[in-house]
This record gives sequence, structure tokens and C-alpha cells, in this order.
Amino acid sequence: MVERLAILGAAGDLTGRYLLPALVELERAGQLPEQLAVIGAGRHDWSDAEFRQRARQQLAEHGDGAPDEFLARLSWCHCDASDPADLRRLLGDEQHLSVLYLALPPSVYPTTVAALAELGGPPQTRLVVEKPFGTDLASAEELNRGISEVLPERAVFRVDHFLGKQTVQNVLGLRFANRIFEPVWNHAHISHVEIIWDETLGLEGRAGYYDHTGALRDMLQNHLLQLLALVAMEPPSGLGERDLRDRKVDVLRATRVLTAEETAHPSVRGRYTAGAIGDRQLPDYAAEDGVDPQRQTETFAEITVVVDNWRWAGVPFILRSGKALGADRTEIALHFYPVPHSPFPEFGRAGPNVLRLTLASGGAPDQIGLGLNLNGGGDPLRLEPAQLDLRLTDQELPAYARLLLDILEGDPTLSIRGDEAEEAWRIVSPVLSAWQRGDVPLEDYPAGSAGPARSQVGGAT
Ligand code: BG6
Repeated sequence: MVERLAILGAAGDLTGRYLLPALVELERAGQLPEQLAVIGAGRHDWSDAEFRQRARQQLAEHGDGAPDEFLARLSWCHCDASDPADLRRLLGDEQHLSVLYLALPPSVYPTTVAALAELGGPPQTRLVVEKPFGTDLASAEELNRGISEVLPERAVFRVDHFLGKQTVQNVLGLRFANRIFEPVWNHAHISHVEIIWDETLGLEGRAGYYDHTGALRDMLQNHLLQLLALVAMEPPSGLGERDLRDRKVDVLRATRVLTAEETAHPSVRGRYTAGAIGDRQLPDYAAEDGVDPQRQTETFAEITVVVDNWRWAGVPFILRSGKALGADRTEIALHFYPVPHSPFPEFGRAGPNVLRLTLASGGAPDQIGLGLNLNGGGDPLRLEPAQLDLRLTDQELPAYARLLLDILEGDPTLSIRGDEAEEAWRIVSPVLSAWQRGDVPLEDYPAGSAGPARSQVGGAT
């Protein structure tokens, strides 16, 4: 049973916005081990009471309040993440099982891992590493090497909170527990797939993290490629961590970005300028507090990839994510080819079937929708578009709570394996290089718009 959950970097945004509210959900659901202590750690010289007071405020803002029994679990440890002695103190008694959660900027991971190595690889420790896991392929490989010298892979949890979202898990149920989808789930029937995460949110005061990261590393390299892996994977023989993760890695290994010879738009990169979203007025991204305009960080990224295997030959998968767009649109859309022959004279008016898996966001629920062509109530030869929509029941535990529970129980199925993280970096590497060389212009788009003009995907539908 885990007795200590130590969060390094607990003064950061992630802890207040995601981790503490998730832990409170687990507390309320009676899922936290009774003796679990939650220790915030960082360079601030806070007392336990100061950390609790801060947590109380953050939970009021991002969660549903702070129960006393949860606050009683919290304490603060003044700690330098690169100092082995500090880490030793943080991890406490070697006899007890601890979870060390690195909620740190990626640049700090190598020194922390080196400090853990100096401790000789603390036994009885599970290590949790937040995304982005490295900043490119070389740094991810380096980090994996360092970690593997400290702890066995089964004790390492690379977090991608999208894997805790229920729509994501439902992709598995939809595909592999129903007979009707799998026979058409391939290049013979699907013309293209869009994996979209458009947000109306802007920077939200996160320049310290985001301006060094950008949309490609923040969303596409991890979250959206994970969605692709689940949509495109072969049926696993079981849902154990090995089967599931092997099948995802197979897909990622077969995935590559289209080359400039194959498409006019191998990638699109954009940055928002001032504009209005509803009654919110956003400044230029470049004028946001803490942003260095010279860094040319993108707030919008779009890439087109193909999966070079029998099932998906030639099917483009378009991955797109942007901030400060006109509408929230968070979905996987599978576009089918039109029927090979239509006896309906009006068929030209009806569109191809589209299966949309919508991920809950901005207050909107998880949904599965299928666009069909049916006869309306009038002329029997006339087709009308119809929509089959299923609103999924609300997810019982938020994504981070789901993942934290798995970590506390020692189940890595929903965390990213080391080779998976490297494959994902390999896929985006040519894009990162092209952007660094300046081969792809950084396009402006006004906040509240549908994104850069060169995007191949329309705005929210
Ligand atoms: C995070 C990104 O991982 O995911 C954010 O850093 C993004 O930029 C967020 O807004 C979206 O996920 P969710 O679950 O908060 O809607």
C-alpha cells in the first residue's frame, strides 16, 4: 500500500489545476489509502499550514472545495529537486512504498533523475513523470536511459491524462466489443480521419510552461498521437498493459508525417493575435505576460500523418490543436467514403457518413455521433441527413483521478511506456526540424477565429 505521494513542483499550475482536485475526488469516493500522506515539495520555504491554505484556495477555484480530511493529509517539504539528500528526505523511510510525482518543467527532469541515481535507485518507489517527456527524440532517449538505470520500467508511469478520459477508453469498447465497426475500420471504407483539439482557452497565465513548449509539444506529440494509436491499433488479444501497449507501439512505429512531395501542407503552425471570443477579449499571444515573442512559440499546430500498414494504407490522419479559437471542438472524426452506387436521384446532396467521437470539454459532454443519410418524411426518393447521437454518462472520476488511482494501485496500463514516448517524438521530429529551420511560416490568426487560413480542417461544425 502506498504511504507517501510526494509531488515535486507542487507550487506549479498542474498541482492546483489537476492533481489536487483529482485527489479530492478520490478522497470523496473513498479510494485513497487511509494512511496516504500527500507531500508537496519545491523550493518555496512554506510551512505545512501555508501549503494547506494555498491548496484550499486552489481547490475552491478548480475543484469543489477542500474536505478537512483531505487537507489533513497535506504537508510541505522544502526541497531542491537536484539534491539527493533532499530527495532522500522527501521519500522518507525506505521500508515504505512511495510515489514520486515529477510535476516539473521537462528541463529539470535529467538532474532529478541523476539525483535519484545517486541515491542508488530508491527501492519501493514509483516514479511518475509528467508530459512533455523530453523536448525532442534525443532528450527523450536520454531521459529513458537515465530512468532505466534508476528504476525498472514497471515502476515508471509516464502520464498522458488523455488516457484517463472516458471517450478515449470507449474507443476500445466501441471498436472491439461491437461487431459492426471493425469490418469497415480500414482504408477501403475510411477516406480520412481528423483528430482535433480546438480550444477557446488562451494562455491562462501559463507562459512559464507554454511559451517553452508550444502546441506541437503540448498536445500533438502526446495526447493526439495517443488518440491516433487507439483509433488505428489492431485488436489486442487482451487489455493487460503488455498487449495494449504493444499494439499502440505497433501503430506509432508505422506512423510518419507526410513529406513535402506528398502534400502541399505537411504542417501548419500559427499564433493568435488579439481578438474576442464571446465577451472575452484576448490580447496578442506575443503580448501576454511572460511571453518572449522572439521564441516564436506556436499556439496552433496541425500535421498530417499516415500509418504505413495494410489496414491504413493511404489514409491521411489530420491532427490539429489550437488555443484561442472561435469554438471548442474536441473530437475524433472518421470520414467514410460515399456508397459506391446510389439509386437515389438526390444522393448528390447527402454527405458521406461521419462517425464522431466527441471528448468532453468546456462543459460539453462526451458523445458518440453517427451521420447517416435517410429518407425524410416527405418524398420517399429524397434523402435527408440524419444524426444518431449518444450522450455518454458523465465520467465518474476525472481523467487525472483515474490515472492517479492506477498509479497508487501499481497498474501501468494507462501510462506511456518508454518506447512509446520515443516513437511519438520520432513522428514529430521532421516537423520540429522544419519549423526550427523556418521552412514553415508562423501564421497569425485572430483569437476567436477558425485558425490559420492554411489549415485543412474547417472550424467547429
Ligand atoms: C493539457 C495541456 O495537457 O491538456 C493544455 O497542457 C490543454 O494546454 C489540456 O488545455 C486539455 O485537456 P483538458 O483535460 O484540460 O481539457
